[in-house]
Amino acid sequence: MPYRSDKETRAITKIILEAGAKARKETETTPEPDLTKPMDWPVTCTVGPGLEGAIACETKVGYVNGAKGWLIYRGYDIFELCAYSTFEEVSYLLLNGNLPTHSQLEDYKNQLLKYRNMNKMMSILMGYPIENMNSMAAIRLGSNLMRYELLGADAEHIRDMETLGKVISSDEDSIAMETVPKGEKNAIYHFDKREMDRSEIKKMDTKLESVMGRESCYHLISGVATIAAAVARLKKRRLPLEPDPTLSHAGNFLYMMTGEKPTPLEERVMDIALILHADHGMNASTFAAMVVASTLADIYFSVGSGIAALSGPLHGGANEHVLYMLRDIGGSKNVKKWVNKAIKEKKRVMGFGHRVYKAYDPRARVLGPIAEYLAQRTRHVNDENWKMFQTAQSLEKEILDAFGRDKRIFPNVDFYSGIVYSCMGIPADMFTPIFAVSRVSGWTARVMEYLENNRIFRPRAMYVGAFDRKYVQEEDREEVK
Ligand code: SDX
Repeated sequence: MPYRSDKETRAITKIILEAGAKARKETETTPEPDLTKPMDWPVTCTVGPGLEGAIACETKVGYVNGAKGWLIYRGYDIFELCAYSTFEEVSYLLLNGNLPTHSQLEDYKNQLLKYRNMNKMMSILMGYPIENMNSMAAIRLGSNLMRYELLGADAEHIRDMETLGKVISSDEDSIAMETVPKGEKNAIYHFDKREMDRSEIKKMDTKLESVMGRESCYHLISGVATIAAAVARLKKRRLPLEPDPTLSHAGNFLYMMTGEKPTPLEERVMDIALILHADHGMNASTFAAMVVASTLADIYFSVGSGIAALSGPLHGGANEHVLYMLRDIGGSKNVKKWVNKAIKEKKRVMGFGHRVYKAYDPRARVLGPIAEYLAQRTRHVNDENWKMFQTAQSLEKEILDAFGRDKRIFPNVDFYSGIVYSCMGIPADMFTPIFAVSRVSGWTARVMEYLENNRIFRPRAMYVGAFDRKYVQEEDREEVK
């Protein structure tokens, strides 16, 4: 792409700062949020289907305020991080709680560099028919193969029960379901180590640390990007590429995916996209990762479950569907008719709405103007992106007019991200993998935080079925209509 460097990347920073100023101005009259305070467990909260409204834990990793349209990572505002930081700094921040000093950042970058090369795992992955697999399924497969790289083999899985002894838990499971859950203050799991000698326990702890520890998080943050890039190449029947140690995490991901060294602007835009998608409260994929980790399954299984959850179109897969939707609409002139039909059919419009944001998603506030900037600049090369952007702008206006403002339905992170990636020549089936490449940092940060005070997730389901049904022999049964 014929981009110039400094002027272009400076223009992107200006776009982000202007978007932040606009966001603050548009929400300045929205009442200040009831900022969170430490919980005094057990807490009473109003819970809807899908655990809507339930408070699962305390966290310092990130905060999403849906009324004000705020997204904060460890106390830093997302607009500031996008304007001035990098994905390396932000993924370090999420995991460790503070922005890294120069030496901490250099050390972290070396860790990521060390894990970026995964020849052993890659040779196993290439033995699978990746070209016929769903990209997210292939990435999940790769993340699981990473365990072997670290552990050598599952056979040494140290947490099978006979070596662990009995797990004693004062969890709610031991409390009759019909009683109102008191919520044990903090059910602490005691591994009954009576049968094991000190060396056994030491071996278990070190192994547990190795597959649940910070090193594994760095391994996954670096490795999932390598796997995603390799999947993109294998799907085009091309060989995976070795990383280029002179490039950043975002730059390497682009290079290993496309085979071309990214321009400074492409590297900067990808870096911003990875920052924007890194963490987002207790979203479905983060919750899935935490639920798996809460059983003390290792972090590789946990990240694999996050990848699985993210692959769903209601969660991570929406940006790909947005692109198909915009192409299907076929231009601004068709938007009004399309929206009227969508409303009549009660259609879910991809890229709009959010469980938490009842204001404009701050990530869409950044990605929208960047999509416009990139689509404008590639117009002379390919006006399809510009046409798509104009259709998106018309659709946004129509949806907001039709029901956005009173139903509080605004564009979410997925509405413009696909146009941005399309302007960079990235194929649609790589959009959700990019989301996973970024969100692995939020998944690992929240898993590590939760394990500090672990409690296996075990919500309740209210039984509304029948009682007192008597067994009937097969020959006497009638089909129940
Ligand atoms: C992500 O949780 C996260 O943080 C997720 C995420 C992250 O970073 O991890 O932000 C990433 O998942 C973004 C969302 C990507 N998905 C989509 O764009 C798919 C389309 N969006 C919708 O499916 C929906 O908005 C959800 C799933 C995102 C949220 O749905 P909710 O909170 O369950 O909303 P709801 O179903 O309670 O809807 C409330 C009302 C309903 O109308 P009524 O039945 O009350 O009349 O709003 C309507 C819905 O029909 N509505 C929509 C709509 N989203 C909600 N109507 C049309 N189009 C939509 N997109």
